[in-house]
Amino acid sequence: MSAVAARHATDVRPFAGLDVPVPEEVRRRIDFVLGLRHHWATALFRALRAQYERTVAAQPKKPRSGEEAGPIVEALPLYPAFAWYERNIQKMMWRALTEACEAHREQLVAALNAPVPSPTGSLSLDPSLKLPDYYTETEFHIQPGGVWSADLNAFIYELGAKVIFLGKNDDYAFHRLFTQTAIPDGDYRDILDMGCGFGKSARPFVDRFPSARVVAIDLSAPVLKLAHRQSEKLGKKVDFMQRVAEDTGFADASFDLVTATMVIHEQPMPVMRQTLAEGYRLLRPGGRMVVLDYHRTGDPLRDFLMLGHARRNNEPFMGHILGVDTAAVMREAGFREVALLPFDERGGGPREDGTWPARDDWHFPWVVLRGRK
Ligand SMILES: C[S@@+](CC[C@H](N)C(=O)[O-])C[C@H]1O[C@@H](n2cnc3c(N)ncnc32)[C@H](O)[C@@H]1O
Repeated sequence: MSAVAARHATDVRPFAGLDVPVPEEVRRRIDFVLGLRHHWATALFRALRAQYERTVAAQPKKPRSGEEAGPIVEALPLYPAFAWYERNIQKMMWRALTEACEAHREQLVAALNAPVPSPTGSLSLDPSLKLPDYYTETEFHIQPGGVWSADLNAFIYELGAKVIFLGKNDDYAFHRLFTQTAIPDGDYRDILDMGCGFGKSARPFVDRFPSARVVAIDLSAPVLKLAHRQSEKLGKKVDFMQRVAEDTGFADASFDLVTATMVIHEQPMPVMRQTLAEGYRLLRPGGRMVVLDYHRTGDPLRDFLMLGHARRNNEPFMGHILGVDTAAVMREAGFREVALLPFDERGGGPREDGTWPARDDWHFPWVVLRGRK
């Protein structure tokens, strides 16, 4: 492996535990894309920041929000390059990942649909489920066909989630950190993970709360199949079901903990409100809902770039979540003890003092939003 590949750790582990290698040529391309991404998030972002600070220093009226910073940022010489890199790195990444998976299409799709021997958890798909239009009409993250339209897309998405953090997300440390640090101690008997994807957000609950029943739902059949297969392989008992987060069909008061990580920014505002209300309905008294998502930071440059990220990454509803007080939305849904805490995904977890991690690279403004019934 080349030095660059080793640095970026893109000799990614086999897909879903299947021993399928990434072809060397594709791996090199992924490394190249990740090298670009690293350059974009560090050197380019810092240079853009310097241009922004110089321009703002010369102005009598300082921008106070992302919206106010917009015209200034858009006029900076480096902004077109910053924006171009962001969108095109993402497109190049999907192209390389798609090729990596296409090289093993038959094997991967057959394995995904083969019966899982002696499962401890379960998989329940609903072929009659009507997927919402807001979901099928958007290619979120610019992934061609989204995560739902074909079996192979689940593997492509899984591989993307591994490499997108520049090789720093081995074994999904991000989600384990969230589960260990953002969920208050409690006697949780039934846990629901809404929008579980291929299972990386659901599995850590099995480790942290071994006596709980973990149920995980998603709209996409391909990712649920992958989630089930991988969970069984790893010995994590999870019941996966194809259901809609905002209208799950579960009985009132049937869970003690409801979570949704990286999901509500993919929903239109009324649906996001409905999802929080559904979480409230599903909880037993005293139960908790804990959400991991994005929030504006109060740094006008970062907040404007995040609004731009929403456009460049095909996230048509993300702007809504960046524009509202999600803690207030949670209170409106009936929750008490609501807290909104910046989340340091590089090890710190939720920041109880409410401050954002001090980093000079570009990174996502993660927050933990939690409330109690
Ligand atoms: C960005 S992924 C996050 C997956 C996982 N929670 C994680 O943190 O890795 C968003 C997931 O939410 C699912 N999703 C989006 N809207 C949903 C909805 N209304 N109901 C159920 N699942 C939904 C998508 O299919 C996708 O798998």
